[in-house]
Amino acid sequence: MSEGKKPGAGRGSSGRGQRDLRVRVKSAKGRKLSSTLWLERQLNDPYVARARREGYRGRAAFKILELDDKYRFLVPGARVVDLGCAPGGWCQVAVARVNALGEKSGKKVGRVLGVDLQEVDPIAGAEIHRLDFLADGADDQVKAWLGGRADVVMSDMAAASSGHKGTDHLRIVALVEAAAQFAFDVLEPGGTFVAKVLAGGAETEMQAMLKRNFRKVANVKPPASRSDSSEKFVVAQGFRGAGDDAADDADSDDAGDDGFGGEG
Ligand SMILES: C[S@@+](CC[C@H](N)C(=O)[O-])C[C@H]1O[C@@H](n2cnc3c(N)ncnc32)[C@H](O)[C@@H]1O
Repeated sequence: MSEGKKPGAGRGSSGRGQRDLRVRVKSAKGRKLSSTLWLERQLNDPYVARARREGYRGRAAFKILELDDKYRFLVPGARVVDLGCAPGGWCQVAVARVNALGEKSGKKVGRVLGVDLQEVDPIAGAEIHRLDFLADGADDQVKAWLGGRADVVMSDMAAASSGHKGTDHLRIVALVEAAAQFAFDVLEPGGTFVAKVLAGGAETEMQAMLKRNFRKVANVKPPASRSDSSEKFVVAQGFRGAGDDAADDADSDDAGDDGFGGEG
């Protein structure tokens, strides 16, 4: 797996002929238009092809690779909790970068603990549990598995779409809030919290809370995040430590869609 490869390599090369290479999927009897369009998008998505080529379980892997290339939180020796980890792309990236298998000799060995509602095929170097993170006592259960502090809490949790934008937004806010509360309890001072959020307005309080608890809070959309999706990511770094909620001098980096120099 060449997880160290720079995402976007090859950009700027000639795009000539690209239109000719695009795969068109004909509508078929019994297949909905939305399924045809989804299939066509998958077949033409360079990140889907790259994930297959590089052995990742999904294109989502590139989102955390790009975020980590920019913010550098997955370092050898880091203890990582991955909330909503199925099918496992983020775990694969974390295992390699924190050296969970001890393959980088002379470097510290990290740890990756993932949880998801769904069953996940085993990933060497990661400890994965099936769990509804919103269930009563779920956070205590993860703390027990963790058995100590974490350096990174990351959440790509997303509820299945209800088809109603407002409902989806509130659901994802609930997931992010649960993940953030968990992060406040388990992070080592200086630790990092990364979470998927949806652009939509109801997150102002959340942002304020993060800015009180972390020295630096960035809102970014990595190139691998589809431009037609309202998802973005918050990367909060420099956890101030439990109980230190009074500071109000967090640096804010509302990078938005331009956080990666307009790529994507
Ligand atoms: C976008 S996927 C995560 C992809 C993952 N980062 C990867 O790289 O493979 C979102 C995941 O969040 C999980 N999820 C949603 N609600 C959850 C909950 N309450 N508890 C645990 N996992 C949840 C879903 O089951 C789904 O697998």
